[in-house]
Amino acid sequence: MPSKETFEEHLRRQGVSRRSFLKFCTLTASSLALPTGAAKVIAATLATVPRPTVVWLSSQECTGCSETVLRSFEPSVESLILSEISLDYHNTLMAPSGTAAEDARRQAIAAGGHVLVVDGSITLRDQGAWSIIGGEATIDIVRESALDAALIIAIGNCAAFGGLPNAAPNPTEAFGVDDLMGSGDLVTAAPVVNVPGCPPIPEVITGVIVHFLTIGVPELDHLLRPTVFYGQTVHDTCTRLPHFVAGNFAQSFDDEGARQGYCLLELGCKGPETFNACTTTRWNGGTSFPMHSGHGCLGCSEPGFWDRDGGFYTPPF
Ligand code: SF4
Ligand code: F3S
Repeated sequence: MPSKETFEEHLRRQGVSRRSFLKFCTLTASSLALPTGAAKVIAATLATVPRPTVVWLSSQECTGCSETVLRSFEPSVESLILSEISLDYHNTLMAPSGTAAEDARRQAIAAGGHVLVVDGSITLRDQGAWSIIGGEATIDIVRESALDAALIIAIGNCAAFGGLPNAAPNPTEAFGVDDLMGSGDLVTAAPVVNVPGCPPIPEVITGVIVHFLTIGVPELDHLLRPTVFYGQTVHDTCTRLPHFVAGNFAQSFDDEGARQGYCLLELGCKGPETFNACTTTRWNGGTSFPMHSGHGCLGCSEPGFWDRDGGFYTPPF
């Protein structure tokens, strides 16, 4: 059943400390680039708003987007599921299966106003027969679940732009959520926020949910990505940028230049054309990002990145 209790009530019941909750609010406010004092406003708001019902649907995907949430640091998946949000349905993580699972989804969406998370692309071919859950085509499950949702978050490149299944020749006629709305195959009044990446950064997912609950739908770019996370390219704040400016380019992944941190542009890095927060939010609890670890950016938060001319190891220009 959709939860009516507030975060504060739920936190008390779960025995989660006020200190842990405030730490989560502070880190989220910081990742959202909100001004000083916003953490207190977030904490105060989350203490009074009802916890959202979240239904997470997976379609044609590799489970990498769920994996990324499982590996999130702040909040951990335990607190994400048990404390901060009410994740009422998730194909992979939920305990019930079969009819009980589908009953849980229907109960969760019955009252409307839920947050619908979609990961994976949605196939239209043969009335959606290429992706079936519990005997139903995923496209039909998404249609039913999206109708009265308050917000739809399309997680990962597949749900946002079609991703790998959409790559030529797109054998299953796979598309992202917004593509389906544009073609009239999916009807809903709910706003869509794209959180692309392969996978996306986990803190961005929780950041979008918290922003929606406390402030509203975040400002979006022309590809429906939150500008706070996708407002600049990964190149803009890359640690190898000084070498790019100086014209120092590695020629192979194990040459002396690569070891000295030279720019990876000539090895195919798509950083200058890729909007994402990898170099600011970073990965694995703020540890690193691809170019920091020695590999160029593949452009995984951009539409059509699997089909780019020249492939992953050809310079973008
Ligand atoms: Fe830009 Fe890539 Fe070079 Fe970093 S490695 S400076 S992102 S081109
Ligand atoms: Fe993806 Fe490039 Fe970041 S490949 S993970 S957007 S550095």
